[in-house]
Amino acid sequence: MVKICCIGAGYVGGPTMAVIALKCPEIEVAVVDIAAPRINAWNSDHLPIYEPGLEDVVKTCRGKNLFFSTDVEKHVAEADIVFVSVNTPTKTQGLGAGKAADLTYWESAARMIADVSKSDKIVVEKSTVPVKTAEAIERILTHNRKGINFTILSNPEFLAEGTAIKDLFNPDRVLIGGRETPEGQKAIHALRDVYAHWVPLDRILCTNLWSAELSKLAANAFLAQRISSVNAMSALCEATGADVSQVSHSIGTDSRIGPKFLNASVGFGGSCFQKDILNLVYICECNGLPEVANYWKQVIKVNDYQKSRFVNRVVSSMFNTVSGKKIAVLGFAFKKDTGDTRETPAIDVCKGLLGDKAKLSIYDPQVSEEQILKDLAMKKFDWDHPAHLQPTSPTTSNKQVSVVWDAYEAIKDAHGVCIMTEWDEFKNLDYKKVFDNMQKPAFIFDGRNVVDVKKLREIGFIVYSIGKPL
Ligand code: NAD
Ligand code: UGA
Repeated sequence: MVKICCIGAGYVGGPTMAVIALKCPEIEVAVVDIAAPRINAWNSDHLPIYEPGLEDVVKTCRGKNLFFSTDVEKHVAEADIVFVSVNTPTKTQGLGAGKAADLTYWESAARMIADVSKSDKIVVEKSTVPVKTAEAIERILTHNRKGINFTILSNPEFLAEGTAIKDLFNPDRVLIGGRETPEGQKAIHALRDVYAHWVPLDRILCTNLWSAELSKLAANAFLAQRISSVNAMSALCEATGADVSQVSHSIGTDSRIGPKFLNASVGFGGSCFQKDILNLVYICECNGLPEVANYWKQVIKVNDYQKSRFVNRVVSSMFNTVSGKKIAVLGFAFKKDTGDTRETPAIDVCKGLLGDKAKLSIYDPQVSEEQILKDLAMKKFDWDHPAHLQPTSPTTSNKQVSVVWDAYEAIKDAHGVCIMTEWDEFKNLDYKKVFDNMQKPAFIFDGRNVVDVKKLREIGFIVYSIGKPL
């Protein structure tokens, strides 16, 4: 029986390994983590992450061929294939701070693998890492233990949160990079055999190590660039009377451009787009390519501009002050169908409004009060460092912020409503009731273009929607 161990039971490690266990009943999969609360949650009825379809997959396999454990060393020692899916956040201190990837967690995982291994292993980079990381990891593994062969593969993950299970069941592609040596090719085939249980062979792409590592950063940069491109257009639409949805549709019908990922928004969020582009920028700078670095940096700048433009729009529309006014914030997660708030644009928007002394009443169906207060108290880039992954991290109480469990309660007596996440329930609110319960004039600022602008204006709202005629 092939044994797989995955270090890191997070948003990637958990779902990815659960699907491998489901699709490969003859493989034993252990997911290990140093964070005991996370492992306890994976072993309970309340999984640590919300992801449609995940619970069914976990319940089918857990205890049969899928195990969650804090006994990291034991499971690593027993495994034939070790995936490393630890966090690779942006460095907050030292060389490359604010840009470079912090590989501390990766390096400590690699050193531990070298220390505890007693048999040959395939070590798979699942985390998103800078190009050439495999070379450094190889050095750590081979220096620490003589006589044991470690073969490194890069197998970046392309799942998106909220659709993780769907993406894993039916991926556009699986990418496996390895050394162009007989051992490297043998390892590629071994990993390909795992995915071939359910992924058609023509969708399993095999490349060299550096192409696989770089393709992951490139894919995220291209995706984020599309959003910044359409968001830049949204500002021009507002200035000219064009409608960004019509522009997106018009350009998206060109088969060379395609219709996906062209929704204008208050800005992209999530744990990876910003971090991976900053990482790409840093790599370009280190390789003496400032023009290329500046090109990609612009994607982040436009995203920051979009968030501050939204805050400015709220404040300027509400007679240039929101001081003491109640603003209802609907949605806090970085996208719908997830409870993840990492780098959510809601954080920057809320902080901007709080800076203007607004009173916020925040509602998100999947995000707790503790998480929201923690996010609003945290410094940029601090969110993905393990101290903050622990549930005991300090939170700051904020008298300007209340968190409620119902959209109508958030809206009651509010002067304005800001829609930050495109949860389906926000499309179907009883907006007549919302209007009746708000202060007048009643403002709606739709950061996700989910409301029917015409209908709301007929009710009496003053509506601002991204990239729509005012
Ligand atoms: P995460 O923070 O949810 O999970 C990482 C886990 O690794 C944490 O639970 C942490 O406790 C654990 N960990 C850290 N160091 C460890 C060690 N030495 N030993 C054991 N456990 C350790 O992160 P994530 O969102 O799953 O992302 C993981 C990687 O995958 C990142 O590189 C990310 O860029 C990449 N990625 C993420 C997504 C996504 O949608 N979240 C998608 C594709 C790729
Ligand atoms: C993204 C990629 O889509 C995945 O392929 C990748 O594996 C992952 O990053 C990663 O490396 O972490 P994710 O961040 O989970 O996945 O979610 P996306 O659907 O890409 O959305 C990212 C952000 O962009 C969200 O805030 C979303 O609301 C925003 N977005 C997306 C838009 O504003 N407009 C769009 O048209 C699409």
